[in-house]
Amino acid sequence: MAKEAVFKDGQVLRFPVSARVLHSIHTLSFLVLLYTGLARMWPDMSILVGDDLLLGQTIHHIAAVLFVALPLIMLVAFPKGAGRFLKELASWDKDDTEWMKKFIPWMIRPQSVKLPPQGEEKAGQKVSAWMMIICAALIAISGILMWTAQNIPAVLVRWMYVVHDLSMIILIFLGIMHIYMAMLFPATRRGRMSMVTGYVPEEEAKHGWKKWYDGLKKEGEK
Ligand code: HEM
Repeated sequence: MAKEAVFKDGQVLRFPVSARVLHSIHTLSFLVLLYTGLARMWPDMSILVGDDLLLGQTIHHIAAVLFVALPLIMLVAFPKGAGRFLKELASWDKDDTEWMKKFIPWMIRPQSVKLPPQGEEKAGQKVSAWMMIICAALIAISGILMWTAQNIPAVLVRWMYVVHDLSMIILIFLGIMHIYMAMLFPATRRGRMSMVTGYVPEEEAKHGWKKWYDGLKKEGEK
């Protein structure tokens, strides 16, 4: 496959094909997990899988394997990109702290609050991504223990139900916030096609991820 240009038609590449494929399949498997999980708790919701509890459970398990295995496969298949993303998530500087302090006032009055320059991921994106990773890991571990419940003390299995449900509630909240910021919030929604096309408008990159954008520009001039 031909390498995608970093700059193209006033846009800049944010996500290569591998990241977009991972994001799409991950989102799909998350939605299937959510639906089949809720249908198990409230059978009235199970119109799509009907009364067949085993079918619902099997679909839930298949989606769970996809949800957990896919990021791990990507980690092995694309170590450079995955390593760069994780390194970015683990980085934190004064501007990130300042960004977090100004986040709520900026959400209320985006025109009058100036946010400090950000790297490839904004401070809020880093916090949200770590919370997503931690919740997904807890959901996966508790899910595996619930799946293999016969070999595990009943009290531990009961706790795993609590961990599984609480982590999912937090993940749903993060998901709603994530979709709102990516697709609807006027000050950030200009990049909403980036997980489909890979690109964001340069103007958006200059404002939202200034340090990252300036770094790419400098590299391009070499
Ligand atoms: C319909 C559902 C979703 C939509 C529309 C959506 C949209 C997007 C968009 C537009 C971006 C790029 C933001 C940027 O330019 O930095 C993004 C990034 C990302 N998405 Fe999603 N997303 C969805 C679901 C999910 C789910 C279910 C997860 C994880 C469980 C997820 C995890 C991430 C992560 C970790 C990033 C990179 C960091 C960040 O931007 O927060 N997304 N998403």
